[in-house]
Amino acid sequence: MTTPDIEQLLAQMTLAEKIGQMTQVEKYSLSPDDVAAHGIGSVLSGAGGNPSPNNPETWSEMVGSFEEGALRSRLGIPLLYGVDAVHGHTNVYGATVFPHNIGLGASGDEDLVRRVARVTAEELVATGVRWDFAPPVSVPQDIRWGRTLEAYSEDTDLVTRLSMAFLRGLQEADGADLSHPRAVLGCVKHYVADGATMWGTAGEHSVVGETSGCDGNLAEAPVISEERRRVLEEFDSQFGHRYEHGRWGQRLDQGVAYISEDELRRVHLPPYEAAIANGARNIMVSLSSWQNIKLHAHRYLLTDVLKGELGFDGFLVSDWLAIEYLDPDYTTAVTKGINAGVDMVMVPHDWQLFMKSLAEAVESGRVSMERIDDAVRRILRVKAEMGLFGGARADTTTTAAFGSAEHRAVAREAVAKSLVLLENNGVLPLRKRAGLVYVAGEAADDVGLQCGGWTVEWRGLPGGDLPGTSLLSAIRDVAANGTEVLYDQNGYFGDDMADVGIVVVAEPPYAEMTGDRADLTLPPAEVELIERMRARCQTLVGIVYSGRPLLISDQVQLFDALVAAWLPGSEGAGIADVLFGDVPFTGTLPFAWPRDESQIPLAALTASSESPMWPRGHGIGG
Ligand code: BGC
Repeated sequence: MTTPDIEQLLAQMTLAEKIGQMTQVEKYSLSPDDVAAHGIGSVLSGAGGNPSPNNPETWSEMVGSFEEGALRSRLGIPLLYGVDAVHGHTNVYGATVFPHNIGLGASGDEDLVRRVARVTAEELVATGVRWDFAPPVSVPQDIRWGRTLEAYSEDTDLVTRLSMAFLRGLQEADGADLSHPRAVLGCVKHYVADGATMWGTAGEHSVVGETSGCDGNLAEAPVISEERRRVLEEFDSQFGHRYEHGRWGQRLDQGVAYISEDELRRVHLPPYEAAIANGARNIMVSLSSWQNIKLHAHRYLLTDVLKGELGFDGFLVSDWLAIEYLDPDYTTAVTKGINAGVDMVMVPHDWQLFMKSLAEAVESGRVSMERIDDAVRRILRVKAEMGLFGGARADTTTTAAFGSAEHRAVAREAVAKSLVLLENNGVLPLRKRAGLVYVAGEAADDVGLQCGGWTVEWRGLPGGDLPGTSLLSAIRDVAANGTEVLYDQNGYFGDDMADVGIVVVAEPPYAEMTGDRADLTLPPAEVELIERMRARCQTLVGIVYSGRPLLISDQVQLFDALVAAWLPGSEGAGIADVLFGDVPFTGTLPFAWPRDESQIPLAALTASSESPMWPRGHGIGG
């Protein structure tokens, strides 16, 4: 099919076909025949939504089978397949795994981030995927948030600079536009102020119906019925996500941002303005609320501000299950979301119910045909811009480059540039002929822990045998003759004093709300490990693997040098490159590093009379 005239195509579509285009389903919940029969517009793999066996070939077969389903539908409208490739195409076993964005934030290097995005795009298209739910443009103001690692910085300008470099890297292949078969559609997320939610508000699901205006009901309402909750929990247990529907407790992911409109516009909106100027064609709505109104029901922010004032004419996709929480009555929930301005709904499971409910809402006049046509027009326009009607399916001939040495070299460079030297009393860089070296810490010998969450599985794959280089093996590679490297994960080495000790402490992997943590101090076992190493090593170097600053003021004096390595990904050799002086330290902190919990969130630090442990921008050598 050649690129059609969108208006003519729209005129041929039935209401059901239009709703089909507005429907996004996760791949476990439908078959290619369902796509063909219902003209489904999009399929996604949620984190961990992998084929078995999990490799580039099975991925491209899986994606291809859904695409062929779409081409068999009455009008043959092509499908968009989407995934979260937030630090490489990491759902796929064997992918090049980059540092999480917080580490790229420490590099501050736009050219590097653009190349990271290009490698990610090449690995995506090798598996048939042309839509990445990235870059996140969150500007986290509270490091207790489990998504701090996905953000480049707490600083709006740095977030904007790097996320736009990422967006351009994804969307531009060989300097061409989105129609290039190796261009990947970016998804700027999560609109808006997802980084501003307040600790303890995750359970506050009071939604006022006012802005979506479907029933004029201003009363606070419970947002999900017990019956729906049971249905969702059943889906979730099959999918393995354990979302604990509506039972998030006192945390902050998906919570409420109680900030003024001025602050929202000053701190959180600028990346979206830049995104539109940089060719963003898709934006994902945040699961959080602003001033007690869920973003998915927020007509003012979605339609008036984003599509009206800022002129966004791409399409808005909802986040996972978000529509469910807008009202206990499902049809009303759908009505609120669509009327607020959501164009495509990441259902993700119960798609028949969604399609039926939206059809009912249109037939009863609660959602207008104009709104449906506007949503479908936006989706079809982007599909046309991507060349999908002309058959520009992903160029899977690049499979050979998947996880290649060339790609891993970019990741290794990214790791080296992301390291922040927090303290150094002259011991770094280490000499390669270093005598007796003790290495300790489980994460020193575990590529899964090095990668963190969003790697193969939603919460990561610690203890797995992920392809890559652990820090331990990298140290062994670099160490010269005359250096003896011994490893014990718990730091038990007998009585000899080592010349050098390297101890890695690491946050256990997490994703989203599972990473919301009130206490950011090191667990007692890690404190004991550091003390044990201190007693056995002349010189002690600490390496911190974490998705955010951790509270380590009580341990700092135990180290001769301390390095923030974030969640570096598959290429641990990048750390050894810098530790042993082949590459200089250049990274700087993208977040201020608090002394103690009284300096969290950022507003408390700003108000504090004491300085932080290290300010944003700190980094010896950087
Ligand atoms: C996350 C999104 C992600 C989506 C699809 C949601 O839970 O909030 O960031 O893109 O899942 O996996």
